[in-house]
Amino acid sequence: MKFIDSILKEGRTFYPSHEFSRRAHIKNFQEYSRLYKKSVENPEAFWAEKAKQLDWFRKWDIVLRNDMGFFKWFEGGYLNVCHNCVDRIVKSGKGKKAALIWEPESGEHKTYTYEELLKEVCRLANVLRKLGIKKGDVVEIYLPMIPELPIAMLACARIGAIHSVVFAGFSSDALKDRIQDSSAVLLITADGSFRNGKVFPLKDNADAALKECPSIKNVIVAKRANNGISMSDGRDFWWHELVNDAEDFCGAESLHSEESLFILYTSGTTGKPKGILHTQAGYLLFAYQTFKWVFDIRDNDIYFCTADIGWITGHSYIVYGPLSNGATIVMYEGSPTFPNPDRFWRIIEKHKATIFYTAPTAIRALAKEGDEWPNKCNLSSLRLLGTVGEPINPEAWMWYHEMIGKKRCPIVDTWWQTETGGILISPLPGATPLKPGSAAKPFFGIVADVLREDGSKAGINEGGYLVIKTPWPGMLRTIWNNPEKYKSTYFEKFGVYLTGDSARIDEEGYFWIMGRIDDVIKVAGHRIGSAEVESSLVSHRAVAEAAIVPYPHDIKGQAIYAFVVLKKGFEKSDGLREELRNHVSKTVGPIAKPDKLQFADDLPKTRSGKIMRRILKAVAEGSRDYGNIMTLADPGIVEILAKDRI
Ligand code: WT7
Repeated sequence: MKFIDSILKEGRTFYPSHEFSRRAHIKNFQEYSRLYKKSVENPEAFWAEKAKQLDWFRKWDIVLRNDMGFFKWFEGGYLNVCHNCVDRIVKSGKGKKAALIWEPESGEHKTYTYEELLKEVCRLANVLRKLGIKKGDVVEIYLPMIPELPIAMLACARIGAIHSVVFAGFSSDALKDRIQDSSAVLLITADGSFRNGKVFPLKDNADAALKECPSIKNVIVAKRANNGISMSDGRDFWWHELVNDAEDFCGAESLHSEESLFILYTSGTTGKPKGILHTQAGYLLFAYQTFKWVFDIRDNDIYFCTADIGWITGHSYIVYGPLSNGATIVMYEGSPTFPNPDRFWRIIEKHKATIFYTAPTAIRALAKEGDEWPNKCNLSSLRLLGTVGEPINPEAWMWYHEMIGKKRCPIVDTWWQTETGGILISPLPGATPLKPGSAAKPFFGIVADVLREDGSKAGINEGGYLVIKTPWPGMLRTIWNNPEKYKSTYFEKFGVYLTGDSARIDEEGYFWIMGRIDDVIKVAGHRIGSAEVESSLVSHRAVAEAAIVPYPHDIKGQAIYAFVVLKKGFEKSDGLREELRNHVSKTVGPIAKPDKLQFADDLPKTRSGKIMRRILKAVAEGSRDYGNIMTLADPGIVEILAKDRI
């Protein structure tokens, strides 16, 4: 019997065009395989070679050291991450190149060249120093998607302060918890932020949190929404007033490779958020190199990533990866549906974006709105698409491929985590044949595998625990304030890095992520990953989104309860319910046929778009014990789901 059964059948393969491959950094599968083999035979040599492309103030003494389970990269080396992302690019002659194109929700966009970015970062860095911020101090950043956000992060990096960005959609309680855990001394926030044309009172939220955060000495407030706020005398200062008086240049601190760069709390679909710690050189190198090759970056690319910088995707692939490559980034402030559900497509058209990186949840939500929206826009500038955050079901992949990429653009399905710092498993667009729904192959230097409960290697297409067997430069270094938890969460079970995901490897060595291991359902003796059943449901023409959870069943032990959101134009009916249950039975097998199927208008998701199955599980069980629902995008939907329970 298999540890986890795989039921998804997907046989399509798509090859990169000759034209794409010819110009790519990695040009064919043989080149990938050869380089990959070399990189895992001697990862230290591979990474040392790549590290030479960064500017170092002092070269490292040793590439990698295992300090009793805590991994250190490039010890003895000194550099500055901000210098590498900005000054180094200016010095290379690209000072006049656009670094950041900021698209506000309403109004005119604004562009910062690398030179201008350097000046803004330096001015804020000088302000921080003047406020007494020193190397190793934690600076909390609670800002919306405005240029001040990357500027604040880079200014911290420049002087060696540790930034901790809190997603601006989070409540004051979430902010308070994170400030208290990190003992931040300074908060950088804004008066308010815009979303769907409405003002969100960021500063009011911050004030509420600060009542219980005595560690915060000062607050810097960026003016964005012009909403009335109160400023606490002696504690709060306006950003624009402070930088007005600041010098245009600020020297970059020389920092040891293993000094802390940032803390980022995981979005956490379960339990208490963990403060993931990343350090300087290894993180930067990993973000730099993965961005370069996975996005196959060229000098004239316009790269648009829709993630919020409050998540790791924004840290690594809006800020550090793209800037260290001297790329041009489009950063969007607001909602994907403002004023209409074509906003992303309009932004691509307006800025002639060549690379577009988003999440499956956004793809499904926009596909639900109908094809007329992308069809009205000129998307011909695109040459590469990416996804991240969840398994992408083959049907959403196909829609993305046909409607957005016009069958022309490779799709990189990038698997990684807050903890991994950067992409670990992904196609390389000029080299890897694509299979819809598979994240394909490990990146250079990454040794990934799938294990059974007893630690033995799972067979071909047998699901199990996804693990990473050797360290990589971008890996987390610890959990802030909790090194024991770092060891027990990630290394206790198998002695190698445990990702928490379930996956299988097919006959060609392709990785298929099956969802979180906690979401595996055991039905009549078979273990089934949530992603595969959901994928089957979404492949039905009426379904926009689906989530499955287990509920107790007298005979089977556990049975499957499905929640289904329909596409526009389809009516909820008993007939359709039966059709959907049978559809699963037909496409993946009777074992996966949902016993119950509830139609829903929406699913409970984290602010980063991940479905919170533990809440759905409570609903399915008829329990009111939802646990913490604070991180939900819309807590109101829980009661509606419970009311409609079958
Ligand atoms: C979890 C990490 C990595 C940036 C955003 C999320 C899931 C992520 C994929 C993918 C299937 C994926 C995993 C992972 N995930 N990318 N391409 N295919 N699943 O960061 O909040 O730390 O979440 O997201 O379950 O463990 P995060």
